[in-house]
Amino acid sequence: MLCKLVFVAMAGCLCAAGFASAADTKAGVEKKDYGKTPDGVAVEEYTLTNAHGMKAKVITYGAILTELDVPDKDGKFADVVLGFDDLKGYLTKHPYFGATVGRVANRVAKGKFSLDGKDYTLATNNGPNALHGGEKGFDKRVWKAEPVELKKGAAVKFTYKSADGEEGYSGNLTATVTYTLTDKNELRLDYTGTTDKATPVNLTNHSYFNLSGPASGDILGHEMTIVAQKFTPTDDTLIPTGELKAVKGTPFDFTTPTPIGKHLDELKGNPGGYDLNYVLSDVDDKGASLAARVRDPKSGRVMEVYTTEPGIQFYTGNFLDGTNKGKGGTVYKKHQGFCLEAQHFPDSVNHKDFPSTILQPGKTYKQLTVYQFSAK
Ligand code: GLA
Repeated sequence: MLCKLVFVAMAGCLCAAGFASAADTKAGVEKKDYGKTPDGVAVEEYTLTNAHGMKAKVITYGAILTELDVPDKDGKFADVVLGFDDLKGYLTKHPYFGATVGRVANRVAKGKFSLDGKDYTLATNNGPNALHGGEKGFDKRVWKAEPVELKKGAAVKFTYKSADGEEGYSGNLTATVTYTLTDKNELRLDYTGTTDKATPVNLTNHSYFNLSGPASGDILGHEMTIVAQKFTPTDDTLIPTGELKAVKGTPFDFTTPTPIGKHLDELKGNPGGYDLNYVLSDVDDKGASLAARVRDPKSGRVMEVYTTEPGIQFYTGNFLDGTNKGKGGTVYKKHQGFCLEAQHFPDSVNHKDFPSTILQPGKTYKQLTVYQFSAK
């Protein structure tokens, strides 16, 4: 039976509060010091544990998911996300490992858009385009954290106040993301946003998953299903053309379980792998719907992704080139992890036909994405 209690901090911890259930498993939330940024801001690490011993670690720098321990078919745990062992790693240049990305995830063409008759210019940090919120996006900001008591499981809420004009965007935006680890082996990410001026908002998580563990080679054998009949084709700078194209008969068809590597050599004009947005078939506003299912035949681990978002960017770590030395000294190479970034479509702010990313004052932006784990 789940009983609520406050448990005593372990060595090195500042405090801890949470839930306990199964005899040996201290389910709950534990907080630790995670060092300081170069300008002296303290960073904290929160460990969420569920009744089955599954763990998720999140730091206040970038609201980054740094570790996710998941059992395989024999009950053996492995960390299934790429990242670093310490803050020093996360402060180096890296491709958004585990990060909360905003204010606008994905690309904005030429870093330009107009809103309510006003033109906005963003930093172009990805060839000719703006990517993932700019030079110093939400992934490089220190968020405020507070453990929250939710019936669903151990949870921590992260808040970041992005000032009017930051990275070229309008409006003071308060963004939150609550990470909850439930006893159904789900990691839930609930996002909210409120603003005092109209602004585009598109938040996502940029975790790189490897269901065999991040030191175990590439993910090309993982079997991927994406619940999408269409995708948004792009130009060669990965900006959507505006068309919604059927996946049928293309190497982008994952409507049935398909090894990620199966059609890799048929991809033309793509930078060595998948990096595209799928139009989710089955999403309504009421609740999160199944967007993708991934199974690793080696470990038997299965991850299902549910989301309220209309799109999901499937990215196969094409730009991992061995420059990032990660956990335990592992050098991350091409295709060592995959991302499933639930979000609105890229460059939505310049496409009137795409679901809108504009948040108006008085309204609340909401996004829910759930990663559910099982094994067989
Ligand atoms: C996203 C993009 C990719 C790449 C990665 C970060 O997934 O779609 O093109 O920029 O982020 O390296």
